Amino acid sequence: MALLLAIESSCDETAAALIQNGRLLTHHLSSQLDHAQYGGVVPELASRLHQQQIIAVVEACFQDEGISPAQIDAVAVTQGPGLMGALWVGVSFAKAFALARNIPLIGVNHLEAHVLSHFLNETPPPFPFLCLTVSGGHTQIIIVKDFLNLEIIGETLDDAAGEAFDKGAKMLGLPYPGGPLIDRYATQGNPEAYAFPAPDLKDLKFSFSGLKTALLYFLKKQEKSPDFVANHLPDICASYQKAIIGGLIRNLAQAAERYGIQHLALAGGVSANSGLRQAFLALCKQKSYYPYLVSPAYCTDNAAMIGIAGWYKWQAGQVSGQDMMPFARVF
Ligand SMILES: Nc1ncnc2c1ncn2[C@@H]1O[C@H](COP(=O)(O)OP(=O)(O)OP(=O)(O)O)[C@@H](O)[C@H]1O
Ligand SMILES: [Mg+2]
Repeated sequence: MALLLAIESSCDETAAALIQNGRLLTHHLSSQLDHAQYGGVVPELASRLHQQQIIAVVEACFQDEGISPAQIDAVAVTQGPGLMGALWVGVSFAKAFALARNIPLIGVNHLEAHVLSHFLNETPPPFPFLCLTVSGGHTQIIIVKDFLNLEIIGETLDDAAGEAFDKGAKMLGLPYPGGPLIDRYATQGNPEAYAFPAPDLKDLKFSFSGLKTALLYFLKKQEKSPDFVANHLPDICASYQKAIIGGLIRNLAQAAERYGIQHLALAGGVSANSGLRQAFLALCKQKSYYPYLVSPAYCTDNAAMIGIAGWYKWQAGQVSGQDMMPFARVF
């Protein structure tokens, strides 16, 4: 029986999880709501809040399972990408824990963990599969050849899909993070009400800056009628969301065809979006592909996915030393 403790602190969720023999036992998460008043994540505030919450989320996991720190066999932690100060809180905690107990320390790439969140499911996709990762900071199409062999074949040239949602929401006067709110309003609106352009880019590239500008100019045109946005919010959200989803699904479909891969997956916070999930399932049905989704709780940041990714790295002997450093971005 091998027990692994996992820690996540890359952005604004402080999270811990326990994995036993490759299966999730329990996980806890503390979401930092304080950032909403600033309209986005404030890095220094995030670090301080991680510091306040990290022991509580770890202890909650231990309590759930009646486990003591002495029973833990390895510690996995998000090494990056993310906010440097925030990452240091999790990494310092994990290093100290591993040193005190003399157990292996495993640094995990947060983006690989989003992809491997599919292995929290009873029926994960078989290798190779295609994964569209759509999160707050990234938009990637990845060929997943094995647990630790991931090839990025498409990325965004500017904003991530999550930023397109959150920045669009901000223009509409919605609080941060606006992605889930756009999703909610969109379910009540008509996606054909307004025509926002889904960018037509070659070679599996994404770009959302033109769409954002289109929304900005659309809103500027309505400035003379101050109640316009309030009166048409569901239709605007549905139309804007449709354009984002259109670009995402079109590139995923192209990648599946180009590489002849029939097992398709979504990962990352934006994959909780109900419109994207529907469009993804519709594509798979139309083309007879096999769709894989994770439950919304594992789409956004959590430590369960760090634990599962850490587990496979540990099994492959990929452990880190005490000199391990967090990294803010992947170049
Ligand atoms: N239902 C939803 N519809 C649209 N967007 C959503 C939904 N739920 C969450 N999001 C978006 O997901 C993003 C957060 O996802 P996630 O936690 O994976 O990102 P992150 O960890 O900040 O970024 P990264 O993983 O790239 O480092 C936010 O932009 C949020 O608005
Ligand atoms: Mg994330």
